[in-house]
Amino acid sequence: MSTKNDHSNDPLHAKKKAWSGRFSEPVDAFVLRYTASVDFDKRMAFADIEGSVAHATMLASVGVLSQDDLEAIKSGMAQIRQEIEAGTFEWQLELEDVHLNIEARLTALIGDAGKRLHTGRSRNDQVATDVRLYVRSEIDVILKRLEHLQEVMVAQAKRYSDVIMPGFTHMQVAQPVSFGHHLLAYVEMFERDRERLLDCRARVNRSPLGAAALAGTTYPIDRELSASLLGFEGVCQNSLDAVSDRDFAIEFCACASLIMMHISRLSEELITWMSQRFSFIKLPDRFTTGSSIMPQKKNPDVPETARGKTGRVYGDLTAMLTLMKGTPLAYNKDFQEDKEPVFDAIDTVKDTLRAFCDMMAGVEARPENMLQACQAGYPTATDLADYLVRHGMPFRTAHDIVGQVVREAGQRDCGLEDLPLDVLQSFSDLIGEDVYDVLKLEGSVNARNHLGGTAPAQVKYQVERWETIFSQRNH
Ligand code: ARG
Repeated sequence: MSTKNDHSNDPLHAKKKAWSGRFSEPVDAFVLRYTASVDFDKRMAFADIEGSVAHATMLASVGVLSQDDLEAIKSGMAQIRQEIEAGTFEWQLELEDVHLNIEARLTALIGDAGKRLHTGRSRNDQVATDVRLYVRSEIDVILKRLEHLQEVMVAQAKRYSDVIMPGFTHMQVAQPVSFGHHLLAYVEMFERDRERLLDCRARVNRSPLGAAALAGTTYPIDRELSASLLGFEGVCQNSLDAVSDRDFAIEFCACASLIMMHISRLSEELITWMSQRFSFIKLPDRFTTGSSIMPQKKNPDVPETARGKTGRVYGDLTAMLTLMKGTPLAYNKDFQEDKEPVFDAIDTVKDTLRAFCDMMAGVEARPENMLQACQAGYPTATDLADYLVRHGMPFRTAHDIVGQVVREAGQRDCGLEDLPLDVLQSFSDLIGEDVYDVLKLEGSVNARNHLGGTAPAQVKYQVERWETIFSQRNH
């Protein structure tokens, strides 16, 4: 028996397709290329091998396959795995997809036992199994990267818990906040992304194997067994649904879209903070690029690229939803188009998270510039209103009076804390010397000292809370 791919006597050979029994002429060469998927679905090869070995093991355990055939299939698959790893496996377009390529090679290697592998199975339940196994393992990689990014952001929040920056609403200076607090907002978003992925994983992790083409099979199969061999948490309970469901892949793309949306918002902020007008942060040079014409430029290429790539992941989600919407039960060849969007979403999210883990660790705050920016927008005006309320004034009246104080400061071109006491007192006799404590930025942030508030003491509490979560996770 040849160790090279020799298909000369093989029904799966290029010239004689696996399904060619009833056909009177070969498939048109262009149609073959148009309908083939091997160029992109070969990346599921190891999932396909895993799924086949589990199926064969189940068949042997119920007596449909002999022990000898099972052993032959296992060793043939081990060799195929090596060939793929070594890059010597010869993928053939004429064999359409990853499933038929591997099955043909198996038969070339082990003969009739290879031809028995497909007993009680169809490519329809096979491909659904492969996609689920593949997406499941990539979810686990993405979860790890999300967790790493959270750890990096928490470390930065710890470092910058006392650094004050202007918080914005409507992109206008609103109230001072701790830079650490701002960073921790993203840690919360990434936590929801984690929760969503874990939830999605549970629905990905069910076995379609045994549904066969659509109706099930006449062999006495044990679906629970093949499912548990593959680490699935359960089996799909309806054979038609099992082969036609791609919800899990759509859900994954939705999770990926939300991750990218969060990364894109962070990117937008990094880009703003890097601009000369803000100069709130510095990014390490290795995450920026220069301009070919303007020698002074340092561009935030990584955040901009991530912001741009967010669009393609939304596109992947839209492609998946649109792909599925008009398809009747059960399997349709349309479903082959699920792979490229899902793979693209996986690659984009993984690469983006990898870049961000590294880049966020290198962000340097520029506290002087953040402070200076606070000066511009009367960020402690609310604190003055709260001060008046504490001294008995109704909030709406206080709001109005502080508006007049802000106008006065604007006319004098100074901050609220620079107004002399007698000027402040001309607006309300409730104001005393201690007002300057609340007009200062530190006083303002320190006063918001409750769960979820921006006081540095609260930021430090949150950092500790996250550190405890991380240490439990890493056990
Ligand atoms: N390459 C196909 C896919 O990705 C495998 C299933 C094909 N099944 C079929 N009956 N043509 O969906």
